[in-house]
Amino acid sequence: MKAKGLPELEASSVSELEALVRHHNRLYWDDDAPELTDPEFDRLVRRLREVAPASPALDELGASRFGEAVVHDVPMLSLDKCYGDDELADWLSDFDGRVVVSPKFDGVAASLRYDEEGQLALAATRGDGVTGDDITRNVREIADVPRRLKVKPAAPIEVRGEVFLRLSVFERHKDRFSNPRNLAAGAIKQKDPKKSAEIGLSFAAYEVFGLDAPTEHDKIDWLARAGFAPIERRVVEKSEALAVYRELAARRASLDYEIDGVVMKADRVDEQRRLGATSHHPRFALAYKFQGDTGTSRLREIEWSVSRTGAVTPVAIVDPVALSGVLVSRASLHHPGYVAKLGLSLGAEVELTRRGGVIPNVERVTKPGDRPVVVPDRCPSCGAELVPKGDFLLCARPDQCRAARVGQLAHFVSVIEMEGYGDRMLGELYDRELARTPVELFSLTAAQLLTIPRVGDKLANKLVAEAEAAKQVRLEDLLRSLGIDELGRHVAKVLTREVGGLDAILAATKEQLAAIHGIGEIIAASVADGLAAQRPTIDALRRVMTIEEARRAPPAEGPLAGLSFVFTGKLARHKRDEAQATVQRLGGLTPDTVSKTTSYLVVGDDKSDGKQSSKEKAARKLIAAGGGLKVISEGEFEQMTNVH
Ligand code: IVH
Repeated sequence: MKAKGLPELEASSVSELEALVRHHNRLYWDDDAPELTDPEFDRLVRRLREVAPASPALDELGASRFGEAVVHDVPMLSLDKCYGDDELADWLSDFDGRVVVSPKFDGVAASLRYDEEGQLALAATRGDGVTGDDITRNVREIADVPRRLKVKPAAPIEVRGEVFLRLSVFERHKDRFSNPRNLAAGAIKQKDPKKSAEIGLSFAAYEVFGLDAPTEHDKIDWLARAGFAPIERRVVEKSEALAVYRELAARRASLDYEIDGVVMKADRVDEQRRLGATSHHPRFALAYKFQGDTGTSRLREIEWSVSRTGAVTPVAIVDPVALSGVLVSRASLHHPGYVAKLGLSLGAEVELTRRGGVIPNVERVTKPGDRPVVVPDRCPSCGAELVPKGDFLLCARPDQCRAARVGQLAHFVSVIEMEGYGDRMLGELYDRELARTPVELFSLTAAQLLTIPRVGDKLANKLVAEAEAAKQVRLEDLLRSLGIDELGRHVAKVLTREVGGLDAILAATKEQLAAIHGIGEIIAASVADGLAAQRPTIDALRRVMTIEEARRAPPAEGPLAGLSFVFTGKLARHKRDEAQATVQRLGGLTPDTVSKTTSYLVVGDDKSDGKQSSKEKAARKLIAAGGGLKVISEGEFEQMTNVH
């Protein structure tokens, strides 16, 4: 069978047909650049279904491909990212203790499992985070990876880290490959282990599961003893984190590997546990990414898009230019006022940066163009009138404007982290009236989703499952998801911390909100008005969602507030956990390890072995270095706390 104008259907074998289906599926879903019309694509799929009904390519329709080989014991999550000092400060305020700072390697993640004998048993790529590909044979060829651990673990362990290519090694290959990361990704998936070994990959270990260690830095140190090339790490006070970020950023160019940011982690494992993780990233870690490169290009045209608030925003369409290794052809122009401020004209040569590494920004005009920019007078999405407001231009009817409504849905799913609901999907849901408000996303059924072209069983079920999982939400995320002006990450956090639960927040007056440190009158007014306007939405959402109102413990009060006690050795007259409970009851902290912030190390009076513990050694060292910590006996502890 041959169809005119459809060379795809000339595929002569099942494997060719599968390859075509996969190719066009990817162009549509992943690259957003379909080459076939829907009926053409459907015909291709039907043909494959006829000749090979069991083909795996049919299962992969819509969803990204799933590797089959290795299911991760613990899902391999991503890192939460930030691009500014304020976001970093916000994150730091979420936990107690110190911070471990490491470079963020620009490579590919790998998971290595070792058995109880310490033998490398299995290695896998990250894949989609749940399932990866088996790469054991290639990983065994990497010099930095011990085939047998130098320290025998008590139980099987899993080591995670980044497979990457040193720049000095990439030199040898650079004529044939675009960048070290792509080559590392290709080499680790290479079928022939010899060819993979020839490339000369490196591995930096950054995580280990199955060890019982109280701090992150203990784990990294263990990795070094076990024979890994562990990631460079600095353990610092929170107040030093930013300076260490800057230091690493300054050293970036002199490193023998590419890094695209700095990874920070809460050092204390008990704090890591308390913070937990979303389904996509742990909350105890943060990637502070570097700013991107600068380049120049020519402005071809301006596209006017409508944001979720109804603001009509200009987007620059430029000749493609490579910035930080990515081809850029669209850049943000923020609002019409910015276009005017830049003095922009079509055909102009402009300077672009990838600010924060993601959305490119037009910085300035380096050569004027020849045609004026025409600002629209009607909403490009719904045709409504446009109302100027300051630098902005607003659609007069955002509640009836498709672009604004789809934008609101997109904001909601991005904050709530519902994967698979891209702009295209949300547009389909809106047009078919399947979901026009956030709450409607939670009642979608697989049967409804299957009415959308190119949605198969697998994708439909995945979307329903994502919505189900997203029903569990933290209060601060729910607040942020509403898209209220001024109610961003920071304000949401302050509200949940200072005001409390949802009911208290909804009941707060503008005056009460404005009295909170960090929230001024403008923010208070915007938040209070926004919450009132969104009351029906909020009520609908709280009926279907489970809202976690977890609050941080209020600052401790009591005679030991601000003091921390670490215990070592066997106590003669108390159980350790009871002594710790006493400290906590009196407002003090009881971390597991000695650090610069420790106030007292309590050495048990039961000196049966007479040896100095490692905690005591650490404490003596800190004292010798001028630290303010004191070593006290059990008797002294009893006097301080009045317990005997
Ligand atoms: S810690 C939840 N430390 O960055 C994962 N990751 O964008 C915690 N990466 O998948 C990982 N350098 O592959 C960590 N020093 C570092 C890292 C690092 C690079 C990778 C890792 C992760 C990705 C997230």
